Amino acid sequence: MHKLQRKLQTDHLHLLRLLKCLSHEIDCYDYDSQRSADLAVILSALDYMTVYSDKWHHPTEDIIFDRLIKKAVKESDLIKELRNEHQTITQETHKIHELFRNVAEDCVVSANELLTAARHFIGLQKQHIEKESEHIYPLMDTALSDEDWNAIEKEITLQNDPLFDETSKKEYDHLYRFIVDLEKSKQE
Ligand SMILES: [Fe+2]
Ligand SMILES: [Fe+2]
Repeated sequence: MHKLQRKLQTDHLHLLRLLKCLSHEIDCYDYDSQRSADLAVILSALDYMTVYSDKWHHPTEDIIFDRLIKKAVKESDLIKELRNEHQTITQETHKIHELFRNVAEDCVVSANELLTAARHFIGLQKQHIEKESEHIYPLMDTALSDEDWNAIEKEITLQNDPLFDETSKKEYDHLYRFIVDLEKSKQE
């Protein structure tokens, strides 16, 4: 497996962990919840998705997906659908980020609106990852040659994951610790 593909797959695992944490915090807005949400965690998670997933992960996939489409693989229609979803996800991330920024600034946003929008967003992201992992990532192993990967690498600029990479955790330190502590508490 090419190292770029491995990095993107690791992104998926990380993003799923983050979505679990986000979902846990969003549940606080449910009417029968006894907990209050950590707004800093929610905002930080959405910020990370804006700066890393939407600006690096999806655009990198787009470059790989274009190459698969050019090879006329039979999954081309699904790949085009996933490319469109990248745009939808980016728009939805902005919308939901804005919604929670309004909450942080004490603007009135109903709990119901937050719950509906956030759960829709999380569902969209999860389904997207599932479709990619099941149908498209296995294709990368078989359909792309070393030459393809070399050409892909020339088109992209590698970026560190600012949340999960060991070297770059300061900005998202609170979020990272929150995720790890939540996972530990669920194991107990
Ligand atoms: Fe994607
Ligand atoms: Fe992806």
